[in-house]
Amino acid sequence: MSTQIIRGSFLDFVEDPFHKSDSDSVRYLPDGLLVIEDGKITAFGAYETLQEKYADSEIINYSDKLITPGLIDLHVHYPQTEMIAAYGEQLLQWLEKYTFPTEAKFKDPEYARTIAAFFLDELLRNGTTTAVVLTTIFPQSVEVLFEEARDRRMRLIAGQVLMTRNAPDFLINDAQTAYAQTREQIQKWHGLDRLLYAITPRFAITSTPKELTLAGKLKAEFPDVYVHTHLAENVQEVQFTAELFPESKDYLNVYEQFDLVSDRSIFAHCIQLDDSAFQRLSDAGAAIAFCPTSNLFLGSGLFKLDQAKSTNYPIKVGLATDVGGGTSFSQLKTMSDAYKIMQLQGKSLSVFQAFYLATLGAAKALSLEDKIGSFEVGKEADFVVLDLQATPLMKLRNPHAKSENLAELAEKAFAMMILGDERTVQATYVAGKLAYENSIG
Ligand code: GUN
Ligand code: ZN
Repeated sequence: MSTQIIRGSFLDFVEDPFHKSDSDSVRYLPDGLLVIEDGKITAFGAYETLQEKYADSEIINYSDKLITPGLIDLHVHYPQTEMIAAYGEQLLQWLEKYTFPTEAKFKDPEYARTIAAFFLDELLRNGTTTAVVLTTIFPQSVEVLFEEARDRRMRLIAGQVLMTRNAPDFLINDAQTAYAQTREQIQKWHGLDRLLYAITPRFAITSTPKELTLAGKLKAEFPDVYVHTHLAENVQEVQFTAELFPESKDYLNVYEQFDLVSDRSIFAHCIQLDDSAFQRLSDAGAAIAFCPTSNLFLGSGLFKLDQAKSTNYPIKVGLATDVGGGTSFSQLKTMSDAYKIMQLQGKSLSVFQAFYLATLGAAKALSLEDKIGSFEVGKEADFVVLDLQATPLMKLRNPHAKSENLAELAEKAFAMMILGDERTVQATYVAGKLAYENSIG
């Protein structure tokens, strides 16, 4: 059995900081000890309390660093890694001009593997240990991603993108063929090691009713598989969807009509939704992926996070980069933009709320809170070591790295979240093993 012991300052959550006070929701151990055996957490607590038991053991000491659970990216496109930061368009034109031609390249499995490997390493460089990932219409693009994620022992949720209309010929699949391919992939990958499968219609516009019927059939055949798609991101998209599905009372209702809305559904964006749709998402227990950098970059709009997190009809929300619509793999940069999106609505977002959205909140959105998202004993030991003084400016802003209490941490960690990026990530651990170390820091 391999045992590892990590010492440092630890931050995680025991409750939702949107609904409880910081002192009731945040767990901060200024000097803590995390004990890992065979990739799982076997003990966690104050150094003072636990030290005696482990007095003779070797301890990895990150004394002036902040350790959080591994970050979770609730929605990201791996084939779009290379076309991040494409100029000048909003969603539908951006898809036509940049995205679809790039995704066509993933027909070639060797090419797809090169990008999949780059993508996963980029996640790890940014402290992201779990991601919900879109691929392309090509089964080989899914296979190589799962293979590479398995090699890295990462928790990954992915699926073949379903597209049958309103896209160039080179990116159209036959609905029945896609159904058979998806079915085969579910049987091969869902639940293998740390991998899970998501049925992934791209969005309503690129699916025929037949394809959505088959997606619903798959979901009924494999109820614990996820459904992952886009919903109500952009005004033009919503209008076109209404023309394509005149029978549906709104965009969400398209997915409802095909039995694709459940507590295992993840909907990216959800900007252009009314109160009724928010309530129905809450009732279904479905999750929203909030994609701040993408929503700003593509000019899609301001997500109503305060409404989604309301206590009247709360919705599970997780933070997502949405690369290549999003402009960074860093969940710290994503948190920073999330804060600005709330400021533009006259609201705020605390650093604890932001970290919750990328850790325990996202784990709950995935119904994986028994496995990841916090340092609770029994969970998988994915975590990230953050350096609050990673750059000269951060060091000037935070001259003392260590926080003695929650109030101090709130201030220092907020500055880190606003100024931080991948340079802030000192090390990333996956299932207890060092998966990335920043050699500059
Ligand atoms: N809606 C449908 N496809 C996409 C995509 O690739 N990116 C984003 N941001 N929205 C989409
Ligand atoms: Zn997306």
